[in-house]
Amino acid sequence: MTEVHHSRTERCGTRGDPTDRSRECRQRANRSPFHAEAREGSALIRRLRAQALVRLLGHLRPIIWPAAGAYGAAIGATLLALAIPRVLGQIIDAAIDQGAGGLAWLPGPPAGRGRLLAGAMLLLVIAVARGGLSFLQRYGTAWVGRMVAADLRRAVSDRLLRLDTAFHDKASVGQLMTRVTDDTEKVRQFAATAVAELITIAVLVAGAVAILTGIDSLLAAVALAPVPILAVLAVTGAGRLGPRFLAVQRATGGLTARLQESLTQIRIVQAFTAERRTATAYETENEALFTRRLDVARIFTSIFPTMSGILGIGSAAVLLVGGRQVLAGELSIGTLVLFNAYIFLLGQPVRRLGFFLNIAARANTSARRLYELLDREPVLVDAPDALELQTIEGRVAWRHVDFAFDQEAADPSRVPRRVLHDVSLEVGPGEHVAIVGTSGSGKTALVQLLARLYDPAVGAVELDGHDLRTLSRATIRRGIAFVEQEAFLFSASVYHNVAFARPGATRAEVEGVCRLAGAHHFVSALPEGYETLVGERGMTLSGGQRQRLALARALVTNAPVMVLDDALSAVDAGTEATIRESLPQESTIVSVAQRLSTILAADRIVMLEAGRVVEQGTHGELIAANGPYARMFAKTRGAAPDDTDLPWEADLAVTSGGGRP
Ligand SMILES: Nc1ncnc2c1ncn2[C@@H]1O[C@H](COP(=O)(O)OP(=O)(O)OP(=O)(O)O)[C@@H](O)[C@H]1O
Ligand SMILES: [Mg+2]
Repeated sequence: MTEVHHSRTERCGTRGDPTDRSRECRQRANRSPFHAEAREGSALIRRLRAQALVRLLGHLRPIIWPAAGAYGAAIGATLLALAIPRVLGQIIDAAIDQGAGGLAWLPGPPAGRGRLLAGAMLLLVIAVARGGLSFLQRYGTAWVGRMVAADLRRAVSDRLLRLDTAFHDKASVGQLMTRVTDDTEKVRQFAATAVAELITIAVLVAGAVAILTGIDSLLAAVALAPVPILAVLAVTGAGRLGPRFLAVQRATGGLTARLQESLTQIRIVQAFTAERRTATAYETENEALFTRRLDVARIFTSIFPTMSGILGIGSAAVLLVGGRQVLAGELSIGTLVLFNAYIFLLGQPVRRLGFFLNIAARANTSARRLYELLDREPVLVDAPDALELQTIEGRVAWRHVDFAFDQEAADPSRVPRRVLHDVSLEVGPGEHVAIVGTSGSGKTALVQLLARLYDPAVGAVELDGHDLRTLSRATIRRGIAFVEQEAFLFSASVYHNVAFARPGATRAEVEGVCRLAGAHHFVSALPEGYETLVGERGMTLSGGQRQRLALARALVTNAPVMVLDDALSAVDAGTEATIRESLPQESTIVSVAQRLSTILAADRIVMLEAGRVVEQGTHGELIAANGPYARMFAKTRGAAPDDTDLPWEADLAVTSGGGRP
């Protein structure tokens, strides 16, 4: 693994001709595992498309016996349902038409009232047994559906948490939430109701055909004629409803996402008095959704009466044809009733066939989307032979690094937009390097590579001389602590937010790092101190307070390398200087910085411009060199109307010692 990356680094990094080099590198990047994975992925997904529902059955494996019991109960209940008209027909024959030999197979007197009573008892027993099986079926399938959905939800959320940062950059949170909630719900409906209902319909139709043709094939043909017509109506209805259901599903998702976004950004909405506008936009979409829903309802309500009409015609036809046979003495009254009863017994579920096929189709779409996620493998995982470093010195390096955020774009012909070009930089143990550059020059990208949130397209990032790709993630996390540009806190206590980086950190340890990060003072003043809830639903902190807690969270890891992405920008210069001085002196610090006092405190300054390192050295050296850094410095100075008012003057006073020892 190391060999491969190093050789690629050297060839791409050291070629003379820059155009030649970039072309070759691009070609290499296209052959990178990302692209191979994207191509393989799409072929895989295509193959799975047909099998999503089949794959779902795999989730039944751990619960195979309860599932078999539930679906078996469905079959049993259906068989009993089929028996009821049969027995009913014979009771009628036994009671009214005593010569017809109804229920002759039951023990007791051959005809008359005794027969009737025995038959009625039998009917009661069947009805009770069917009720019992029906309960087992309904409860059992509901349980199976919930188990399958819970299993999928667990798998999907687990996968989402493990997928790479690059994946999450492009994904919409709203859509991912829909996957976890809605798509698993569709699958639940399928496993809980559709499977059992489709089994029921199949057993009913097969049973009715067998029983009726066994009695009288002509009358059977008349009685069963509506079934295929109903089935065709149901299926075409489902075909018409399918896309509309999908549209409703999409519109619902869009509506939820819109509301979610407005609510999470409620401050922006309110600050720009956009409440009315936002509400109107929501209303418009809501109305569109209403129209779509009504459309679905219209089709539903037009299909059902048609089906009832067809059932009525079928029943009349049986009465006509069968009635003549009864009059001619060729058919018993009981049999005529039996035929009619079967028509209605079949009619109900066959009418719902479309509905359940629809559930199956929607579950298939949802399952496909879920498997698309589940089949996605995170790229940034430990190599099988990943190294665990026992001691970490804290030496980091970027070697001829090229990087693009979208390097795993599915379309291999698209050239990813590079945000870092041939960046090489070494930082020794205990050294403090400040990264400077204009907004968008690639500072965040550079330090995110060090935290291995991404891998470089070309070149390597190293810790103690090891390519990060060869190290275990645990080692990287132990070695490098990263403080993001935007400090985020979870809805949890201060203690839990800090200890998040090292579960099990003691209260004293958390307090210790909070002191270092200049947070202890304000945390103590919170109503419940370290137990105060912060974050979304809790007490809201100021930007600078949040940043200090984020720093404490990184410090609690005791990592020898601290990566600070403009992490104290919202903290006043004086406090920042105090915090900086209290940081462990032996730490390697790579800090992206805008503020002069921070920059001056560094041992070395590295200037980035459009993704390239254009200059590095101490402040004095860079000013003397009169290059890009000196120009930036002069521009900032010129921007201030009066030199004496420069915030830098105060900063300079605080940090007059210059770099760290
Ligand atoms: N997740 C992302 N996906 C795609 N492009 C990105 C992503 N993040 C940043 N970029 C782009 O990469 C370039 C470098 O961004 P980066 O965040 O590294 O800049 P920066 O130097 O940290 O800027 P700032 O000082 O504003 O924080 C920018 O052009 C930006 O638009
Ligand atoms: Mg940045």
